[in-house]
Amino acid sequence: MIQITKICCIGAGYVGGPTMAMIAKKCPHIKVTVVDLNEQRIAAWNDPDVENIPVYEPGLSDVVAEARGRNLFFSTDVESAIDDAQMIFISVNTPTKTYGAGKGQAADLKWIELCARQIARVAKDNKIIVEKSTLPVRTASAIKDILIHTGNGSQFQILSNPEFLAEGTAVEDLDAPDRVLIGGDSTVEGQAAIQALVDVYANWIPRERILTTNVWSSELSKLTANAFLAQRVSSINSLTELCEKTEADINEVAKAIGTDSRIGPKFLKASVGFGGSCFQKDILNLVYIARSYGLQEVADYWEQVIIMNDHQKKRFANQMIKELYNTVNGKKISFLGWAFKKDTNDTRESAAIYVADHLLHEQANIAVYDPKVSADQIYFDLDYLATRSSEENKKGVKIISDPYEACKGAHAIAVLTEWDEFKTYDWKKIYDSMLKPAKIFDGRNLLNADELRSIGFLVQTIGTKA
Ligand code: UDX
Ligand code: ADP
Repeated sequence: MIQITKICCIGAGYVGGPTMAMIAKKCPHIKVTVVDLNEQRIAAWNDPDVENIPVYEPGLSDVVAEARGRNLFFSTDVESAIDDAQMIFISVNTPTKTYGAGKGQAADLKWIELCARQIARVAKDNKIIVEKSTLPVRTASAIKDILIHTGNGSQFQILSNPEFLAEGTAVEDLDAPDRVLIGGDSTVEGQAAIQALVDVYANWIPRERILTTNVWSSELSKLTANAFLAQRVSSINSLTELCEKTEADINEVAKAIGTDSRIGPKFLKASVGFGGSCFQKDILNLVYIARSYGLQEVADYWEQVIIMNDHQKKRFANQMIKELYNTVNGKKISFLGWAFKKDTNDTRESAAIYVADHLLHEQANIAVYDPKVSADQIYFDLDYLATRSSEENKKGVKIISDPYEACKGAHAIAVLTEWDEFKTYDWKKIYDSMLKPAKIFDGRNLLNADELRSIGFLVQTIGTKA
């Protein structure tokens, strides 16, 4: 039996940080060290003021405050942490490739491979390696190859333990997950490694919620879970367009179908499109894998979920342009929200980025307010698209830290993230400060359209006839 007392996690991002903080909180007997190459990020995790940690998640700062310095440590010394640990989680980023074969679809495993090589170089004894990042099926075998062939004779067991936490609810999801999935080899050593990780989670999670499978099932389950969730969002979003043409109301449709217990009420919220680091990337991965096995119909089937999502973002932006008399040139458009969903400062693949890009093509002036996203991040996201120069992005987009200021003098407001605080604003005051006719495009179905109309706004809510 392997008793784990020392864990290391490579990657202190949205997955590694919260997950390790929770393990440390729940397992005071385990020393958990989170390492990252990014010095700034580690410094932020170590900031004496726990409110300054780099990942915003409700409740996370309390978890970190409890465990940090006791059995939770953040460091840039990757090698010592690897050397010291019995179990190493790999939680590094695996973005979609932006070059070469599989460009735009396959996951870039550069960082994963670097990690594997580093572990192989540094490890002096046997280690259990846990894949935490979302990885395409069969990554474990690549990691294994590197470890076995470049290592110094140490034994490695590779486990797949995909993350199912959703950002914005990470602490809740980690505290009481629907399930924990652990995939490993069927050999005696593989089963012992699985058991060691099961024992870690069993410190707070009922054993019947800890599922064990082979490595490939575990890896594929992660992609599939996200593909199914994203498919629900694209399915409901596909109907918004139909609802906007007819008298049907998407909220009523969602409620009506969601009460069928076979369908269920969750993930039926119409929106300007899903974002986040997982959905698009995981589906693209699924599509890429299917195509690489020659399974065209399977690939096309899942690709449609992405096509629908891209259509929704573009459609939203085009609708704004149309309603603003087919020109937004020089007009001030205010964005409420930039994050890909509420309660997170993560902006990866956020619909706001694409809506902004589209409006900038039409020479709009955009003013952005988001309660948690920094100005640097917003410019980074726009520059990352590489559709125009950094100077042009700075010229076209202003980041404003007060929502009333952001909306003042605007022709229109676009609601792009479902932050709760937007519902509490003094909308009369906002209306009075805007150019008339004052228009609101609610891409999140968040605000009370009737109330806004009674103030004088012209409102277009996604999925209802204007
Ligand atoms: C997702 C999975 O939920 C999680 O299990 C996995 O580990 C990582 O990927 P996350 O990306 O953090 O989590 O957020 P999620 O809540 O799934 O939302 C994804 C996107 O879909 C967001 O942009 C959200 O606004 C959008 N969405 C979600 C909708 O538009 N409508 C819905 O009904 C639900
Ligand atoms: P996720 O949402 O998967 O957690 P993030 O991008 O938030 O993704 O976090 C991944 C982290 O992994 C980043 O902070 C990055 O600096 C770190 N990282 C990437 N490669 C390595 C490496 N070889 N060693 C240490 N840290 C790494």
